Amino acid sequence: MDYENLVASRDGGVATIRLHRPKVLNALNGKTLDELCAALDAFEADPEVRVVVLTGDERAFAAGADIQEFAGQTAVDMLEGPRGRQWERIRAFSKPLVAAVSGYCLGGGCELAMLCDIIVAAETARFGQPEINLGILPGAGGTQRLPRAVGKHRAMELILTGRHITAQQAYEWGLVNRVVPPEVLLDEAYALAREIASKAPVAVRLAKAAVLRSLDTPLDVGLDYERRLFALAFATEDKEEGVRAFLDKRKPAFQGR
Ligand code: CAA
Repeated sequence: MDYENLVASRDGGVATIRLHRPKVLNALNGKTLDELCAALDAFEADPEVRVVVLTGDERAFAAGADIQEFAGQTAVDMLEGPRGRQWERIRAFSKPLVAAVSGYCLGGGCELAMLCDIIVAAETARFGQPEINLGILPGAGGTQRLPRAVGKHRAMELILTGRHITAQQAYEWGLVNRVVPPEVLLDEAYALAREIASKAPVAVRLAKAAVLRSLDTPLDVGLDYERRLFALAFATEDKEEGVRAFLDKRKPAFQGR
């Protein structure tokens, strides 16, 4: 499918969405979020797609919501407009999302990266929630996901000062999985994505759902959820194949069923 503000492609089980509004550092306007949701819908429906890599360009993953667009918008626009549904769509994507972040990853861009399941950062990446400088606050999950990722005090520092942190700092704070030289950023993200894509797809989706549930439920509810998903995995052909292949000392051939 052709998009105006992003490029979507697929190579085997790994799909890529590359944000592409270079003149405004990939600022996330309504159209870009719409297209991102449409691309995710297409990849969700395509059984060949096992993992999606989300990236930007060298200068920016995304420098946040499009501030130009905010200029004429009201509280009612924010409450009743499509933004909430768009972010919810991204959150609900059932397959693993690997963010490959280079350059600015700010505001809604940082919130988008945090919606991904794994974050690989180039040494050049800069993270932050600078909304406070605009007289607003993070509105796409930043005040909730950042403290869960880095702890209350570090999240407060970023959100209340609007300061940026380096990739290395983000790594030390536990916001990103690894930091690599910019020239190998995509190689590293694709290596991870391909590894995950080689696993049993249904089990991968169930595991993603279970881990995400751990962040928003008490332990007993999460354990109950995990137990049910664990049992559900036993209904898949891939479980038979995985166990049989281990016992036969061969590589499993998972079918996603
Ligand atoms: N929205 C719209 N345009 C943006 C933008 C944004 N978030 N970020 C950068 N741009 C535009 C700039 O206006 C500029 O356009 P022109 O060339 O037409 O002037 C172009 O991108 C390049 O940016 P700069 O010249 O500013 O580049 P720089 O290297 O000097 O600075 C920067 C880079 C530090 C990222 C700076 O652009 C900046 O601070 N951007 C805003 C970051 C921000 O506040 N993000 C949060 C937005 S609110 C939000 O995200 C809320 C939410 O999701 C819910």
